[in-house]
Amino acid sequence: MRDPRDYIIFPLDVATRNDAEALVRQLAGRVGLFKIGLELFIRSGPDLIRWVRGEGGAGIFLDLKLHDIPMTVARAMAGIADLQVDMTTVHCGENPRMLEAAVDAGQGRTKVLGVTVLTSVGTADLHQAGFTPALADDVEALVRRRAEAAQAAGCAGVVCSGREAHAIKRALGPDFLAVTPGIRPAWESVGPDDQQRVMTPAEAVRSGADYIVIGRPIRDAVDPARAARRVADEVAEGLA
Ligand code: C5P
Repeated sequence: MRDPRDYIIFPLDVATRNDAEALVRQLAGRVGLFKIGLELFIRSGPDLIRWVRGEGGAGIFLDLKLHDIPMTVARAMAGIADLQVDMTTVHCGENPRMLEAAVDAGQGRTKVLGVTVLTSVGTADLHQAGFTPALADDVEALVRRRAEAAQAAGCAGVVCSGREAHAIKRALGPDFLAVTPGIRPAWESVGPDDQQRVMTPAEAVRSGADYIVIGRPIRDAVDPARAARRVADEVAEGLA
């Protein structure tokens, strides 16, 4: 059985390298992966990744959500694989050749996750963008369709909401990873924020999530290390 801590992906959603380093020092050995997104990567780049790899006592998830022509994505992916990150993201988008190019260029060194449908996208946006009414009105169907495309292209899994994790695991098998953001612990004290469709860590792992992305409840806690431990306890409860 995996250690409950390994389920936790902590996003380093801060603007400066100093802030990121402080969080990594507090949480080293307490989470499974540190997630570095566009903001921090643009400001601090590959150097920070090397530092986290050395000091973090955890894996690295480089969340750049690539979306471009297959050749450009392949060349970017080759660079990402050279950084020795464990996971990265590519939009499922419309073009399976882009996903295949990403997987090929990752050479099995970096797991490629497909981003299905961003949680900021709603039904009205999908109608406006010209999706058929059947897909625009049923976002979960669109998520499943994109997850199938990601699996066919060789992706290791997808980023999806906890609500979709169960259906995706059932349809695509236990080895296809479901990584779920929008996690709020039962003891949450952060107050209402921009995550609308939330789940607790226990609910998410019970739904089949292989990893949970959980940021602000840990980052903004008085004691982030203690908050991470409490999240791991909730994961353990969900696995029991
Ligand atoms: O737990 P918290 O809401 O602070 O986590 C925010 C992180 O989750 C950000 O890094 C964001 O990129 C990521 N994320 C998300 N919703 C998605 C995909 C990723 O909030 N659908």
